[in-house]
Amino acid sequence: MSATTPAPMPMSLPLPAALNGRTVVIVGGSSGIGLAAGALLGSAGARVVLVARDQARLSAAVDQVRAGGGTAHGFAADGTDEADLDRVLDQVGSVDHALVTAGGFATGALLDTPREQVGAAVDGRIWGAYAVARAAARRLPAGGSLTFSSGMYLTRPIPGASASIAAIGAVEGLTKALAVELAPLRLRVNAIRYGVVDTPLSRGGLGLADDAQVAAAGQGSLIGRFGTAQEAASAALFLMANNFVTGTVLTVDGGQSLV
Ligand SMILES: NC(=O)c1ccc[n+]([C@@H]2O[C@H](COP(=O)([O-])OP(=O)(O)OC[C@H]3O[C@@H](n4cnc5c(N)ncnc54)[C@H](OP(=O)(O)O)[C@@H]3O)[C@@H](O)[C@H]2O)c1
Repeated sequence: MSATTPAPMPMSLPLPAALNGRTVVIVGGSSGIGLAAGALLGSAGARVVLVARDQARLSAAVDQVRAGGGTAHGFAADGTDEADLDRVLDQVGSVDHALVTAGGFATGALLDTPREQVGAAVDGRIWGAYAVARAAARRLPAGGSLTFSSGMYLTRPIPGASASIAAIGAVEGLTKALAVELAPLRLRVNAIRYGVVDTPLSRGGLGLADDAQVAAAGQGSLIGRFGTAQEAASAALFLMANNFVTGTVLTVDGGQSLV
């Protein structure tokens, strides 16, 4: 093999069991899908590093993963700040996979909503993914992966969310571009396009106060309910574990995009 030709992507068991002993950083790991991924990874034997801004919520999330028998550490940091991420990753040491579930959803009709009102959500989504990619790409080993978050509204838009929808489109574009760019390093880059998943984010956004309201709101969807955070998170474990998957946007939406 010449010095300029990298070795092929390593082969390993393409099952979550292969994540046993791996270190996974979850940016956005203190709530919802990120926290559920942390719990699943913990039970698969991974070393889980949760990153989020609010320290109290982060500590509770770390306790939750540990209570399930997992190994977890929490770092309070802004996932859109590359210097912050560098500091965290330097402390963590070796990292095998990074999952980005940080990101909010700004709403507002085009003519009523100046750029400043949606700027944080849009910038955070795009440059958050970019910052994590830059910090992680310097550290991940061959076979490592980045997994970003997108949403079903990209293909089935709702009115009053154009900027946020454009931002998830940008993340999907970034996913494919980085899959090509980072392939020589044998790093993989994927995204998950979620449908409505029952998390604090969706409850807040849809104004759902309790389980009964969530059940009622989900009834009209194809499978008769919204997704659980665990169902959504398990897709991330699949993408991390399968070294033949890169540049893929995996739809996990209970068929919501069909109807
Ligand atoms: N739930 C759904 O129905 C749905 C549907 C489509 C797409 N998605 C996407 O899937 C992802 C996960 O959603 P979710 O429902 O699990 O959200 P969530 O429950 O609100 O959790 C978001 C997590 O990200 C963290 N976070 C937000 N901004 C951050 C930042 N700048 N730096 C570090 N951490 C940050 C939050 O903690 P702090 O606020 O303390 O930092 C929290 O831990 C999001 O990108 C969301 O847009 C969700």
